[in-house]
Order: sequence, then C-alpha cells, then structure tokens
Amino acid sequence: MIDADPEPRAAGTTTDLRIDCHRLVSRLMALGEIGAIDGTTGCARLALTDEDRAGRDLVVTWMRDLGLEISIDGIGNVIATMPGFDGVAPVMTGSHIDTVGTGGRYDGNLGVLGGLEVIETVIAARERGEVDLIRPLAVGFFSDEEGARFPPDMLGSLVYVGGLAVEDALLIEDANGAVFGTELERIGYAGPAPLPGPAPHAFVELHIEQGPVLEDEDVTIGVVEGVQGISWTELTLNGESCHAGTTPMRLRHDPGYVAACISAQVRELTTEFGEPQVGTVGAITLTPNLVNVVPSIATLTVDLRNTDEGTLQRAETKFRSFVAATAEAEGVGVETRILARFEPVEFDEQVIDIVERSARALGMSSRRMPSGAGHDAQMFARICPTAMIFTKSVNGISHNVTEYTEPEDLEAGTNVLLQTMLTLAETEFG
Ligand code: GLV
Ligand code: MN
Ligand code: MN
Repeated sequence: MIDADPEPRAAGTTTDLRIDCHRLVSRLMALGEIGAIDGTTGCARLALTDEDRAGRDLVVTWMRDLGLEISIDGIGNVIATMPGFDGVAPVMTGSHIDTVGTGGRYDGNLGVLGGLEVIETVIAARERGEVDLIRPLAVGFFSDEEGARFPPDMLGSLVYVGGLAVEDALLIEDANGAVFGTELERIGYAGPAPLPGPAPHAFVELHIEQGPVLEDEDVTIGVVEGVQGISWTELTLNGESCHAGTTPMRLRHDPGYVAACISAQVRELTTEFGEPQVGTVGAITLTPNLVNVVPSIATLTVDLRNTDEGTLQRAETKFRSFVAATAEAEGVGVETRILARFEPVEFDEQVIDIVERSARALGMSSRRMPSGAGHDAQMFARICPTAMIFTKSVNGISHNVTEYTEPEDLEAGTNVLLQTMLTLAETEFG
C-alpha cells in the first residue's frame, strides 16, 4: 500500500482541477434508469437489445452536447474525441454500457461516464486557459463487453484491436440464435469507422473493483497491474431421456447427473489448486426440464480464471479429463465449445506508475492489485500503453442488482482518471 504523501504533478497541468461529482452521479442515475430492474437499483441492458440502444442513444447525445467528434465502427464501438487536433493520437479512456442480465449501475458505466466527465471538465478548463493539451482526450464505449449475450466477453474491444476479424464477430449468435450483425443493424449502430481501429497514444480505464479488497483494507484507489486469464467453456451433454419412475438407476444415461458432478468437480479443482484459482458453473439448462423425466440434454458453462497462464492451463487439462471420465462412466456424450480464452495480461509499467502517482498527488491511499474481472483495457494493452484505476465496491458485490459505489469513491476514482489522462497526454513512451 502506498502512503498518501502528496507529490508534485508533471509540468503544464494542475492538481487543482476537479471533476463535478454531482454531474457524474446524475448521468449514472439517468443511464441506470434505462433497463432498470423493477423494485431494485439494478439494470438489465444486455448487448444489442432495445435497452442497449436506448442507453447508447443517451450517451451519444451527451457526447454530441460536448461538441466531440463521434466515430462508430462496424462492431458498434462508439468513440468520442475532442476536436481540433488534426489526426493526433488521443489519450483514450472508456469501458462499456452493456450489463449482465442482473447487473448494476456502475460496472462499465462508470468508466464511460467518468471519462465523459473528465473530458467535460478539461474542455471547461481549456476555455478558462487553465489547461494546455498537446493531444486530444477521447472516451469510448465498446460493444458487448460482458459477453453475457454474445460470447466472448470484450468482443467490441477485441475486434477494435484486431484480435478477431469483424466479419467473424458479426456471425456470433446468442443462445436463441439471434445474430450479432443483424442485431447491430437493427439497433442502428453498425457504423463506417475502420476496423481494426487506430491505436491511441495510451489507454486508461476507470472501473469499480467488483470485489472486496479495497473496502476490506480501507484503501481508496486500486492501481491495476493486470488482468487474470479467462477460460470459458460450454458443455453439451447428450444422454437418454426416460421415465423417472420406471427406469432403474443402473440403466440410466443421465446428463443432468453428469452436469451436477462436473459442477462439484469444478469446485473441488479450485480447492485443490488454491487461490487465486477460481471456477464457476454459471448456467445449467436441462431438457426437457420436468420433474418426472430423466433429461436428454444438459448444457452448462464453466468459467475458469487464474493470474498465471501455466496454472490456468493445468486447470483446463484437469477439467477436460474429469469431464471425459464422468461422462463416460454414465454413458453420456460430450460436445465442447470454447466461448472465450484470454491469457493473463500485464499492464504497462509507465502507465501503472502514472496512475499511482496521480492518486498520491491527490492525497489518496492506493494499492497495486490484479483484476479478477475481464475489461476492455486488457484488449487495448495489445496496441498501446495501458492500465486501469479501481474504486471501491460496497460489500465487494457486482454482477448483482445491489452493486453500489459511494459517490465519494466515484469522485475519487474520476479525479485520478483526470490527473492520469492529463499526465498521459504529456508522456512520451519509449
Ligand atoms: C466480464 O465482466 C467478466 O469478467 O466476466
Ligand atoms: Mn465491466
Ligand atoms: Mn461486468
């Protein structure tokens, strides 16, 4: 943990400049009304739904109101850049505004609206002659970061950085067979900007921590050093449907039973490997899903993550072998589909250092930490110097309608984003 000793900023910028927290929170609440889940403060804005379109429209209106140049590319990423810098690569921030089906108001949204707030603050300061910028600031929101509807996660930023061809991404289907490209056209966000997109000068993403560490240690700012590796698999288990009363247990080929065993084995794997290995069976579907019918098909998803690539690979090997053995013992067939696979990412030491110094210059405590969740920044790390800023999550809860971050923490994180972006604009990378 870093002591909160104030430290002078880089020349040409000022630590006196501050964002307007009231304006930031008002925008977060207004966006959170779109897709609001009744009776909660949660939000359902799955990628490319009508709610996503309405959220996009609102954020684009705010971007236009600030006079920003807006580009929309062929995967639906939207990037707003300060005008008047004639092709100079921007310092970019941003995140996502899609949510999981039971999400909150902060995951992703803070990174986008915090970025907008920074840009609005800097525009006003430039007009007052308080800030001199040699490169523009830009804020983006990237399509389908959650991957909850169209896997993999971080799809928009993955395509932006050239990690997947847009033609292939547009063919991805959701669980009901809806096609990404068709849905993107339907909501009116298939734009002409080229893909892969141009590399920014640097990228920094503000995000809620989505975990309990900052709150537990009473530290204000997480200085994110990297993102753990992610492995998502969908298993389809094919068995034999039969009568639940008449079929002796020894004659069954029950994919529901195999799915339950695999779920338990994933948990046992995490116990055997120890921290930081995590493993989750997040979705199980049985067909036909009736009380007195042994199912014919079970589908389940398995999410394995680790900060160490070698350990993650060993976890995957173990997982594959217990799936094969358990299914074979029950006489059940297995089809495997990889939904996402991203290696752990290490962020740029210079950008990490600037985030840390920015927090210190503002008198805030900070702590270096890895990210457990996937983020658009991990994709940008492939094409430019990148890091992230975390703020506290109350009770460490996220991907849950009760997700909450105190206004003072939103303000702290966004002020660190402001200082970081101003410093990045002046920084030359080797
Ligand atoms: C994306 O938010 C993920 O980490 O699952
Ligand atoms: Mn997120
Ligand atoms: Mn999320």
